[in-house]
Amino acid sequence: MGQVILVCSGKGGTGKTGITAALAVAFGRKNLSVLAIDGALGFRNLDIVFGLENRVINNLIDVLEDKCELGAALVSDRKFPSVRLLPTAWMRPVSSLDEKSFKNLIERVRSEYDVILIDCPDNEVLFKTYISCSDRAVAVITGDVCCVRNADKTLRTLKSNSVRDISLIVNRFDYKKTASGIHLSIDDMTDLLAENVIGIIPECEAMASGINRGEPVTLDGGFVGKLIDNVASRMLGEVIPLTSVKKLARYNKN
Ligand SMILES: Nc1ncnc2c1ncn2[C@@H]1O[C@H](COP(=O)(O)OP(=O)(O)OP(=O)(O)O)[C@@H](O)[C@H]1O
Ligand SMILES: [Mg+2]
Repeated sequence: MGQVILVCSGKGGTGKTGITAALAVAFGRKNLSVLAIDGALGFRNLDIVFGLENRVINNLIDVLEDKCELGAALVSDRKFPSVRLLPTAWMRPVSSLDEKSFKNLIERVRSEYDVILIDCPDNEVLFKTYISCSDRAVAVITGDVCCVRNADKTLRTLKSNSVRDISLIVNRFDYKKTASGIHLSIDDMTDLLAENVIGIIPECEAMASGINRGEPVTLDGGFVGKLIDNVASRMLGEVIPLTSVKKLARYNKN
């Protein structure tokens, strides 16, 4: 049975979509079958980040409303065909996602994929629906104080809805901002949120470029792609120490 991983945060723009795509490719490289679901109903982005926007024909809501078969909505990654994207609808309201139909769909895909990633937007209604189908969650946070406070609420909601396997990815890590106290340190974030950090991704050109050019950063074989690969490995139980923040600092552009 596949595991369902919710990629969430509690704040917009922390890098959830970019990290979902990069993680999907990282799992695909490990020969796992992966379904990446764009959960951002009404604000479809994951197809762009995968570089697959020209191949989208049908979407999640079409599937839930029985307008097409699941297979007719899926788009395979160009380099890793075992990684599939289920795009969402772009112009439909949040109310068009029927919770029961979504749950049924998740139960079906659990038997067909090793890993199911749900890219969750900052929307309480969708978040609650996705929580109810998820086995574990990854909160993508930054060192911004507001982001960490919102993440605290997100983690409480996850726990109160029985999602207890929670980890943190600190994205957009900025060494100078952290050293000068503008951003919270990794230790501060760990203390405040009391959850395990399984990856620190620097604020860097590689991530911004991968997201905007539609080439998940895991594909380029570079340092940042390796960081994401390590996150995927840690999620599968491997023990790999975190990269030091001084080493990450070299990838900050400022
Ligand atoms: N590590 C990074 N370094 C530099 N820029 C980044 C990094 N991660 C994300 N970004 C920038 O942040 C933008 C937002 O990323 P992304 O769309 O993945 O966030 P999101 O959390 O999914 O946003 P939303 O909440 O709107 O869905 C990207 O367009 C990219 O330019
Ligand atoms: Mg997003």
